[in-house]
Amino acid sequence: MAKGSAGYACTDCGKTALAWTGQCPACGAWNTLEAAATAATASGRKGASRAAAGKPVPLREVSTESAGRIRTGIGEFDRVLGGGLVPGSLVLLGGSPGIGKSTIAGMALANVGAAGAGTLYVSGEESPAQVRSRAERLGEAALDVPVMAESSLDVVLATVEAERPAVCVIDSVQTLAVGDAAPGSVAAVKQGTGALLDAAKRLDVTMILVGHVTKQGSLAGPRALEHLVDCVLHFEGERERTFRTVRALKNRFGATSEVGVFEMREGGLVEVADASARFVGEAHPAAGSVVLCAMEGTRPLLVEVQALVAPTEVVPPRRTATGVDRNRLALVLAVLARHGGINLSGADVFVNVAGGVRVDEPGADLAIALAVASANSGTALDTGGTAQSGGAGAKPIACFGEVGLTGELRYVAHADRRLAEAKKFGLDRVLAPTPAEGRPRGLETVDTIAAALRAAGAKRRLRSAA
Ligand code: TYD
Ligand code: MG
Repeated sequence: MAKGSAGYACTDCGKTALAWTGQCPACGAWNTLEAAATAATASGRKGASRAAAGKPVPLREVSTESAGRIRTGIGEFDRVLGGGLVPGSLVLLGGSPGIGKSTIAGMALANVGAAGAGTLYVSGEESPAQVRSRAERLGEAALDVPVMAESSLDVVLATVEAERPAVCVIDSVQTLAVGDAAPGSVAAVKQGTGALLDAAKRLDVTMILVGHVTKQGSLAGPRALEHLVDCVLHFEGERERTFRTVRALKNRFGATSEVGVFEMREGGLVEVADASARFVGEAHPAAGSVVLCAMEGTRPLLVEVQALVAPTEVVPPRRTATGVDRNRLALVLAVLARHGGINLSGADVFVNVAGGVRVDEPGADLAIALAVASANSGTALDTGGTAQSGGAGAKPIACFGEVGLTGELRYVAHADRRLAEAKKFGLDRVLAPTPAEGRPRGLETVDTIAAALRAAGAKRRLRSAA
């Protein structure tokens, strides 16, 4: 039961009524009366047909320039956003605790403020003193950002209305107190976001909502928000490691494939523009290691995929995948057993993408397969060059490709760019299935998992695990 004076409202015409009836007394629609609080937002949308007619514009005349965007001044972040923040949009910034959400939000506000636009940092988690001590690490401009420790949605809305900042950060959406709903509950988070969305559009204020996500990836509250907000950004990385990636899971104003790479340092998050160099620099030919030529959106990225195979008595044996999809690992292991002669049913298998990066693409399959096969045989993959395998200066082998169920390898998009990136960093051997457009120079094509294992020298000294 709603407590307002008008207890119910029609979701079609917005007419309010004190008592519930099956048919709306105003517009005659059936079963459209809802408790006033929940109907308010719905009627706002549906009731639009009663308003003055809109003015459609031919698409050709719609402005596409990103000049109207508010740049956060953090290049990698702006790139993921599709060129900066769109005024009046609602961005959900999710990630596990301690990953750096408040840091990047603080940095963005500092830059926006330094560029002369109004900002507001609403903290429901930390005291202003705590926010200040973080800002002190981020530099002078961060200290100019107005902060308010507040969790009441109504106070936040009133303040935004009064201050009209260009960009407002709500840290976090789970701490918002909305009506009687328990803070952090799905109802509170949804209702709060709905109200903020409304304010964002109405006042042309860009809102960045920070949302916590548990390590298990459960976005309890935030997941429920994805359809409401304009843009969902996800902050990833291992807390203990310094690398962080920001990717867009949804973006109404840009591509969702872009990924920004950062490093957490003293002084905040630092963009890593040459991520490939960093990751390849850390990779050395060793048993269980291979370089994957991945695509992060439109950008090639070299990452090291590592595997460990250890005999076990445990049934079923352990399969741990960090940075790659667990189901892809299961599939690759099954194909290795069936078509590669490598049976690991008696071994624990761990696969990890070094640096805490996540690679979500089938192109990672071949790297998983070669890393596992190499770990199983206990020998580094054949780097080809004159340098001894594993010797100083030897460059690891690189690869990409999808593994098919029949043991064939399937080509993946952007073979040329992946190859070029590997060559750029001096990786001599690059294995991949033949691309549709033909074999580019410098690519060693392998079209079955068996051929790949042979070419990489991964099957020699095959040990039976257990
Ligand atoms: P924080 O942004 O508070 O994480 P979240 O809001 O996602 O919970 O920052 C997390 C970590 O970053 C914290 O352990 C401290 C560290 N950090 C640095 O290493 N350097 C810095 O300059 C800052 C501000 C934080
Ligand atoms: Mg925080």
